[in-house]
Amino acid sequence: MKRILVVDDNKVNLAMAKAVLSEQYDVVPVMSGIQALTYLESNTADLILLDMFMPEMDGYETLCRIKKDEKLRHISVVILTADTTSETEVKCLRGGATDFIKKPFVPEIMLSRINRILELEEYRKGLEKIVKKKTEQIEKLQHNIIMGIATMIDKRDVDTGRHAYRTSIYMQVLVRALRDQGYYTDILTNKYINHLCRSAPLHDVGKIGVPDSILCKPGKLTPEEYQCIKNHTVIGKNIISECMKGLDGDNFLHVAKDMVYYHHERWDGKGYPEGKKGEEIPLCARIMAVADVFDAIFSKRVYKEGMSFEEAFKVIEDGKGVYFDPLIADVFLSQKEVIKNVAVKASEGNGDI
Ligand SMILES: [Fe+2]
Ligand SMILES: [Fe+2]
Repeated sequence: MKRILVVDDNKVNLAMAKAVLSEQYDVVPVMSGIQALTYLESNTADLILLDMFMPEMDGYETLCRIKKDEKLRHISVVILTADTTSETEVKCLRGGATDFIKKPFVPEIMLSRINRILELEEYRKGLEKIVKKKTEQIEKLQHNIIMGIATMIDKRDVDTGRHAYRTSIYMQVLVRALRDQGYYTDILTNKYINHLCRSAPLHDVGKIGVPDSILCKPGKLTPEEYQCIKNHTVIGKNIISECMKGLDGDNFLHVAKDMVYYHHERWDGKGYPEGKKGEEIPLCARIMAVADVFDAIFSKRVYKEGMSFEEAFKVIEDGKGVYFDPLIADVFLSQKEVIKNVAVKASEGNGDI
């Protein structure tokens, strides 16, 4: 049975409200705003019927306190008042009241209004649940598609194994460490981090457009072949742009596009495709550059054997301010032990994305 908390300093009014509502609802009568707030500290209610004029704390103040409280603000509050001036109505609606019932109330009208408000509330909650579930399903589907594409890219580039997968894990460690250490906190919001993590497995999506004969070639590449490999950033950007067509608003593909296009830029401006320098390079790409290079040098490639952890960390150390944003490289190096752990797990296929 749904519970209605009735707040009124007049005993007769309380008794009348109880008589009207108690057949359908569990009615809890209290005689002041303070009593109502005390009751709500350890109990809950589905609706609050609130008298406007009460000594000590009036209905408006009680309403404001309820709506300021994170735990209580969802409860519908219906104001019960003899003062039906539009100023009072506007003030209370702005304060978060759901509706007004004029005093003295007509029992049938009161019951019908309350039934309707609670029905709508039930409907709203149901819709919220459905939307939440559908959103989770879409996000899961999106994640699986991203990982499917990443696996396709990894499978072609036989000797790099699970590069997209591993770089994503390194990047997650790095980005969380950056935020925890207080860097780029204005950009690294939860939402941005979520977008980064979704984008990471796609950073080399453009390799789909590089022929196998070049991508899997053992030994040195000719300048033309190297140019073709470099072009994976441009191809990748075009693929992401295609995916963005018809999509409005903020979504992870905006971050993915920058990451895909700029992840081979260098801090000193000698990277590609645009030769951007320092903080001109989007943060997502500067972060990915460290994770990407670390995995590239640590893992076995077609043309060379992988390095040890220490050798790979040394390359990152030496690349500070040349290849990498020095601050990001330092934070990466501060996570050596975590990186070693996740690298081992990722190579066994036990990492978590
Ligand atoms: Fe790349
Ligand atoms: Fe890569």
